[in-house]
Amino acid sequence: MSVSRRGFIRSLADGRALSGGIFPAAARGHEAWVGEHGRSGGQAATPGDRARDAIRLNSNENPLGPSAAARAAIEKAFAYAGRYPMNAKPAIADFRFLIASRHQLKIDSVSLGAGSGEILECAVQAFTSGSRGLVSASPTFESPARIARQFGAPVNEVPVDAGGKLDLERMIAASAGAGLVFVCNPNNPTATVHPGAAITDLVTRIRKTSPDTVILIDEAYHDYVTDPSYATAVPLAAAHPNVLVSRTMSKLHGMAGLRLGYAVGQPDTIARLSRWTMPYNANALAIAAAMVSVEDEEQIAREKRRNTEALKFTTDFFRSAGFHATDSQANFIWVDIKRPAKNFREACDKQGILVGRDFPPFEKTHCRISVGTMDEMRRAVAVFRSALALTTTSTQSGR
Ligand SMILES: Cc1ncc(COP(=O)(O)O)c(C=O)c1O
Repeated sequence: MSVSRRGFIRSLADGRALSGGIFPAAARGHEAWVGEHGRSGGQAATPGDRARDAIRLNSNENPLGPSAAARAAIEKAFAYAGRYPMNAKPAIADFRFLIASRHQLKIDSVSLGAGSGEILECAVQAFTSGSRGLVSASPTFESPARIARQFGAPVNEVPVDAGGKLDLERMIAASAGAGLVFVCNPNNPTATVHPGAAITDLVTRIRKTSPDTVILIDEAYHDYVTDPSYATAVPLAAAHPNVLVSRTMSKLHGMAGLRLGYAVGQPDTIARLSRWTMPYNANALAIAAAMVSVEDEEQIAREKRRNTEALKFTTDFFRSAGFHATDSQANFIWVDIKRPAKNFREACDKQGILVGRDFPPFEKTHCRISVGTMDEMRRAVAVFRSALALTTTSTQSGR
């Protein structure tokens, strides 16, 4: 869509630009937008004014946003908003250094992205080719597979198992000769997690059978995990040249709109990745907020508790109503609603609740619902109850 400057300003004045007419991503949430349309194509369906007021449970965002301390840091950092982010205080290098030191690594083991989405896309560009493809899962976070297809790399999407978990055995088997294996742990949208030992085993075995294959372990939801068997794969990334871990500030830290993520790996691997990232891809305000947020253990614990409580409330509702939900290790639930997600989504939308998009091949049976505040989830559950009564069950079987 081409928009003249005057038309753009007029649309800002009448609210269209923010309500989805021109910038649908702003109205719908980046995660839902990327999932449905890719980076730049398509138009959002019908968010309109209702979407602005709706309770948004469709993008795995943090309903509270950045902490008070992060907001204060942003205000202070405004003094440097006129400088490039390597000249600001704090600067890009300060955050890289902080993350590296928290893992007892050197600064060149950390690369930043405008969200971890940039890291995932650049990893596909750096490590796959027409002859060395991508191994991913189905369903999982879609962007690596989409980018691989866009660049002409073969994609092998291994179906999750019956419990919604990544089928690690089949992913290991598929990885021989691959350029990149994408392991989303916890997995979006199924909310399942693999123990640290299982990820170590995957890395050990792929390294043996396919030593040139790079393994990208996406830990976007790391901060929410409650399963004690889980462990971060950062030590694996530090130990092995073909392992990378990505993290984001978008989820527990509430910074989805500020766009900051990072990758950890050995310096050579990070250098191969960074050839594809944009220069100055982390802005000074995001850096300032992130510096404060990653160190704020009290806030992290508080946010994790808040999420766990609202997650349990929502999961209990579905389970007690006879619907199966996986044991979520993230800020969303994956529930078998026994009917097409579209029907349920539309019924909820009419009552001001936005829930997740279709996740083929489960679109006939499953819905992903992000976790908001307790107050939002109480209101949402009342709507879910009525939407489930209003929409009939499907006779079609979705996987
Ligand atoms: C598993 C996973 N990885 C990466 C991302 C990208 O997030 P961001 O670019 O905001 O860091 C998302 C977004 O929801 C996600 O679910």
